[in-house]
Amino acid sequence: HGTSTINENGHLEIGGCDTSELKAQYGTPLYIVDEQAVRDRAREYIEAFKASGLKFQVAYASKAFCVMAMCRLAEEEGMSLDVVSDGELYTALQAGFPAERIHFHGNNKTIEEIEMALDAKIGCFVVDNEVELHMLQAIAAEKKVQVKILLRVTPGVEAHTHEYISTGQTDSKFGFDIGNGSAFTAVKLASQQDNLELLGLHSHIGSQIFEVEGFQMAVQRVAEFAASVKEQLGVTFTVVNLGGGFGIRYVEGDTPLQVSQYVKAITDAVKNHFAGIAEELPEIWVEPGRSIVGDAGTTLYTVGTSKDIPGVRKYVAVDGGMTDNPRPALYESRYEAILANRANDKVEETVSIAGKCCESGDMLIWDLDLPKVESGDLLAVACTGAYNYSMASNYNRIRKPAVVFVKDGQSDLVVRRESLEDIVHLDVVPERISKESV
Ligand code: LLP
Repeated sequence: HGTSTINENGHLEIGGCDTSELKAQYGTPLYIVDEQAVRDRAREYIEAFKASGLKFQVAYASKAFCVMAMCRLAEEEGMSLDVVSDGELYTALQAGFPAERIHFHGNNKTIEEIEMALDAKIGCFVVDNEVELHMLQAIAAEKKVQVKILLRVTPGVEAHTHEYISTGQTDSKFGFDIGNGSAFTAVKLASQQDNLELLGLHSHIGSQIFEVEGFQMAVQRVAEFAASVKEQLGVTFTVVNLGGGFGIRYVEGDTPLQVSQYVKAITDAVKNHFAGIAEELPEIWVEPGRSIVGDAGTTLYTVGTSKDIPGVRKYVAVDGGMTDNPRPALYESRYEAILANRANDKVEETVSIAGKCCESGDMLIWDLDLPKVESGDLLAVACTGAYNYSMASNYNRIRKPAVVFVKDGQSDLVVRRESLEDIVHLDVVPERISKESV
C-alpha cells in the first residue's frame, strides 16, 4: 500500500524519500508516515459514501495516531474527528481543528473534560452510560447550552477479532445494552433532558474486522431498536454512527476488504433496514482509525546486537521495541519487515527481532526471513501507523521516537524525538529527600 518502492541502491524509499537518508537526518527508531497514503485512504472513504447517496460523516478515530499534524491532515481531507480524552481534544483544538466537527467519546469522561468540550463547543458527545447522561445534562444546564448527543449502544454483535479488542458484545464496559432494555431506558431518559438533543445512536463492534457481516448485523439490530423506540416513544433518530473497526493487511493471510466494499455493505444495510422507519434515511457516521493510518506507517530501526543459539534460534536486537510498538506483546500482533538498506538482497536466514527492553516478552517479530543481518543494518517494520506512536511508552526510560511525514521526496518532522532532558522533565525531587541523605 502507498508510495513505497526500492530504489537503484536497493534502499527502501517511502514517499520519494530514501530510508537511509531519513536515518541520517532523523536517527532511529523513526516512525515514517506516507502522507499521500493517508490522504488516499481518507478520500476512498469519502468517495464511497458520496456514491451511496446518503448523508455522512467520516470521523477519523484519533486514538489510532493523534498528533497536531495528523489532525490538520484529517481536517484538510474533510474528515470529522473522534476524541476520547482531554489530551486528544486539546491536540485537535491546538491544531485548529473545527470544534463542530469533533465528537467526544469515552466511558468515563470527567467533569473537567465535559466542561472543556462544552466550552470549546464541540459538535457532539457520544454518551456512554447513565451517570454521564445526568452529569452532561447538569453541566449543560449550568452553562445554559444545548448539547447534541448520540447514545452508545451495544448491539450484541461480537466481532471476529482478538478478544481484548472486541467491544460489541453484551458483556462490555461500553454503552447501553439493547438486549436487556437499558438502551431503551436511556433513550427515554435522554429525550426528556432539557439541554440534550438526542441525534441518534452509536455502535462500535470491534477492531481489525475483515468481514462485513458483523457491520450488517449491527445495522439490523440498531434499526430494529430504532423502530421499537419510534413506535413506543415516538422518538426518531437522524444519525446512526457505526464506529470503526475496518481491518487492514498486516501480514500474509490477512484478508481485509476494500474500503469501498465496507462502505457499500454498511450503506446498503442502512437503506435496507431503515427504510420505512422514518421518512428520511439517517445520516451515517463512521469512525475509522486503523484503516486511515495503519498501513501508511513504517517504523525504521537500526540493528544492534544479535545472539545465535545454534539449533534453536537467532535473536537480532533493534534500537526500539515494545516501547514504540507494544502490540506484539499486548495482542500477539504480527508484522512484516525487510532490511531497508539491502531490500534486494536474497533471503539467507531466519531470525527473531527483539526489542531492547529488559523483558523477555519484548519481541517484535518471530521467525522473520532476512538476508544475512549485520549490526548497523536498517530494519523497516511495515503497517505501524496505527496504535504504535499513540500507545508508545517510556518503559525503561526509553525515549519516544520522532515521527516524520514523507511526500513527493520531502520529509517533515511532525513529532520531534524525545531528548534525555524530556525524560526527567516532569520529575520533582522533594527537598526533604535531598536533605535527609547521609
Ligand atoms: N470508534 C470507537 C468507539 C472505538 O472504540 C474505536 C477503537 C474506533 C472507533 C477505531 O477503531 P479502528 O478503526 O481503529 O479499528 N489498541 C488496539 C485497538 C483498540 C481499538 C479501540 N477502539 C490495537 O492496537 O489493535
